[in-house]
Amino acid sequence: MLEVSSVSVTPPPAEAVAPLMRGLDVLRRLTDAEGTLALAELARATGLARSTVDRICATLAHLGYVRLDGRDASLAPPLMAVANACLDALRIPGPLGPLADRLADELDESVSIAVPDGPDIRFVHQVLRRRALSISFRVGDLLPGERSAPGLVFGRGVPWAVDDQLVERGLIAVAAPVHGPDGAVVCAVSVVSHTSRHTAQGLGETVRGPLEACVREMERVLARPGPAAGTTETGTAPPEDAPVVSLARGLTVLTAFDAAHPALPLSRIADATGLPRATARRALLTYEHLGYVTRGDALYRLTPHVLGLGCAPLSRTTLPRIAAPHLTALSGLLGESVGLSVREGDAVRCTARVAPRRVMSVDIGVGSRLPAARTAAGHVLRDGGAEAVVDGPEAGLRSMAVPLRDRAGRVVSALDVTAHQGRGEDGAWREALRAAGARIEAELHVTSRFVSVPAH
Ligand code: PHB
Repeated sequence: MLEVSSVSVTPPPAEAVAPLMRGLDVLRRLTDAEGTLALAELARATGLARSTVDRICATLAHLGYVRLDGRDASLAPPLMAVANACLDALRIPGPLGPLADRLADELDESVSIAVPDGPDIRFVHQVLRRRALSISFRVGDLLPGERSAPGLVFGRGVPWAVDDQLVERGLIAVAAPVHGPDGAVVCAVSVVSHTSRHTAQGLGETVRGPLEACVREMERVLARPGPAAGTTETGTAPPEDAPVVSLARGLTVLTAFDAAHPALPLSRIADATGLPRATARRALLTYEHLGYVTRGDALYRLTPHVLGLGCAPLSRTTLPRIAAPHLTALSGLLGESVGLSVREGDAVRCTARVAPRRVMSVDIGVGSRLPAARTAAGHVLRDGGAEAVVDGPEAGLRSMAVPLRDRAGRVVSALDVTAHQGRGEDGAWREALRAAGARIEAELHVTSRFVSVPAH
């Protein structure tokens, strides 16, 4: 929404990898378009030939980063692995996020953490507590520095800044800087509210004490040593069968970074990715030119600019949205109605449903509630995740369900197939449900590493 285009004005170095530059451009355009663009539109926006866009998108689809659906290309949840590498290597949302969450609880207001990204600011953590606001920012969103409280903190070096409706009417925020052990400002914490609740000055007076206490606590956490770097890494072999191999290889460089390895020398990046040194070096030169990587003391680091590769549109999602393409595929495979449900007391509520078009298909609408005891999904949700088969919910129907678990292993939803009795074979149903469930869980887990993903 407020993404500022960051077109590099200097020409790329001679050794820059052109297909990697094109692939990054495609990902950035899809991000700016909130996740989906027609392939023809991508060709127009990038100025590339349609055949080139098709090959790039086929490579991104091969990596799981993009989904191709007819004429459209959409960002896909596995791309969050790139944002996660950046968020992890920043060592900010991981260690400081829980303290921001606590401050939001204490004040009953929204709280965010932002880092500088060139002249702009980039959100790396968000705790939403908003009632009256029409917009809210997501992890990965960019705001102009001079029009946001965190930007004023970074730009002016002040201990305290107020955003009195600079971004949007009614939106007010106060921000304070958080310093690293070397005294440099690493991020800013903001408390965000609305003019219906406070004046900007009143917000400052109310939150200053707790915000400053939170910042002191954050600075203590930052002064502790980070996770120790592992000694060896197993190389992730770059895909050799992608249509555009140099793009596929180049993208593996980004996920070599994490909290234990926020700064890496070329040799470690080559080892971690399994790329020849010269190939890794050219990819890094390309990233450096585009502002995704910085180099200092022979060590490379990711910049928050990496969050411009899909993070914001992929981070505000729900389990039903993540599951949607998998439900369509599963329903197509089994030729039956499949869906998701969550528990609500003694009932289950359907949160997603995909049914094949045919007469006599099972009709359970999204939002409908059924007694937990009468559905397989209900049994799964009630009984701690054991797979279940139930005859019901109506006479003549049979349903089978498997659990979907979050990163912590808690059952958050059930995936079911429901059909008229006498159709389908339990063994085939179970195998297909488990495989689809595993795919949905993998995407849920990569998406929810640094942001919360509601089950409905
Ligand atoms: C936000 O977190 O939404 C936020 C923070 C600071 C601002 C504006 C918005 O100045």
